[in-house]
Amino acid sequence: MEDPMKREMAAASLAALVSAVDRARSTYLQANPASREQIAQASAYLPGGNTRSVLHYAPFPLVMARGNGCRLWDVDGHEYLDFLGEFTAGLYGHSNEVICGTITSALSLGINMGAPGRKEAELGRIICERFPSIELVRFTNSGTEANLMALAAATTFTERRKILVFSGAYHGGVLAFARGGSPVNVPHDFLVATYNDLHGTEALIATHGSELAAILVEPMLGSGGCIPGDPAFLATLRREATAVGAVLIFDEVMTSRLSAGGRQALLKLQPDITTLGKYLGGGMSIGAFGGRRDIMSMFDPTQPHAFAHAGTFNNNALSMAAGVAALTQVFTPTAASALNTRGDELRSQLNQLARDAKVPMQWLGLGSLMSLHCTDKEIRSSADSAQENALMKELFFFDMLRHGIYLARRGFIALSLSIGDTECERLLGAVRLFLRERRDLLPSAT
Ligand SMILES: Cc1ncc(COP(=O)(O)O)c(C=O)c1O
Repeated sequence: MEDPMKREMAAASLAALVSAVDRARSTYLQANPASREQIAQASAYLPGGNTRSVLHYAPFPLVMARGNGCRLWDVDGHEYLDFLGEFTAGLYGHSNEVICGTITSALSLGINMGAPGRKEAELGRIICERFPSIELVRFTNSGTEANLMALAAATTFTERRKILVFSGAYHGGVLAFARGGSPVNVPHDFLVATYNDLHGTEALIATHGSELAAILVEPMLGSGGCIPGDPAFLATLRREATAVGAVLIFDEVMTSRLSAGGRQALLKLQPDITTLGKYLGGGMSIGAFGGRRDIMSMFDPTQPHAFAHAGTFNNNALSMAAGVAALTQVFTPTAASALNTRGDELRSQLNQLARDAKVPMQWLGLGSLMSLHCTDKEIRSSADSAQENALMKELFFFDMLRHGIYLARRGFIALSLSIGDTECERLLGAVRLFLRERRDLLPSAT
């Protein structure tokens, strides 16, 4: 039986943490009257004042007025270092000269002309050269659309219906698998397996292999907490997909920035289709799906019975021009490698701080992408991260804002190219301060 004294102490620590979070929230509320007012006004026209669910958090999110380099200013005039990097799309910071110049010149040539333009073939070539698994590519407006089209390609190509996905994965607003799935998901015939569960996944494929159109997987769960896929797990998916005739789709919308050729290049794995998005259009809206010539050729309109893939803005002038400039002049292979090295170093320093303070905090991720988990248990799937200390995470978030660090409410960080040593030091300083100021409230690592 549990010691009543221990139980009482645990209850008292919990109550202290709850009241610290309440105080942090109320400090936030008082410091941000203009954001509060803006969201209240927006609520008259947008449900909850919001048009992008991930940006909502209680009591209300900060409203940003402007950005420059790696800095943001909210409508109350506070300055932040932007460690969120627009959930990976903001790879170039807010005012990269090459990108801003390219967009201005593209605008001077006319806004979208109802015809193929000069830049889309160039962007297509750059992508095919960077990702050897992509023989042909098509552009979309978002990563969600890219995944929807990849699934459409797989089901039509195989003439099968089932799609294997993983719990905790996020492939777009209508392809979300946190806690198993979402009521607004598209009605595909999904099988949901556990991420990194090699044997369980093999068993599922053995049962359903002949009906399987596709295996859709993020090489690292991004929104799901930057949980890297084990190389052996991902290699097994490659082998099994080939064995049962299913299309292996790597969703590299986030992970493609982990090297010039994405995580697939680092692992030397070739999916049948890859989906991309986020930073690919120089920060303008974009998505792309591409892969094996025999699959992608189904969309070749010069062929009889070709399938349609439409989209007014698929080749929009700004995304195409900015994408070419970004990939050739800014996010070069050398820049990709340096950025991801910086991220690896930062993550290891953050983890060292948590270890030194003996608190249950860990930063998972790869390269320039990382996410905080308030637990010291090993995390290999979304079920593991469900056990985290949510209060501690919330306190951390509000404290970081108070110290001028902007990151996602869930503790997600995506480094941009405009973040340097000084900014990383500022983040580490803020985390040190959190660990010192909140020492009495934080549980101890086991
Ligand atoms: C891995 C992954 N796939 C797809 C998407 C959807 O992309 P978009 O928001 O451009 O629709 C996201 C967005 O966060 C993502 O992280």
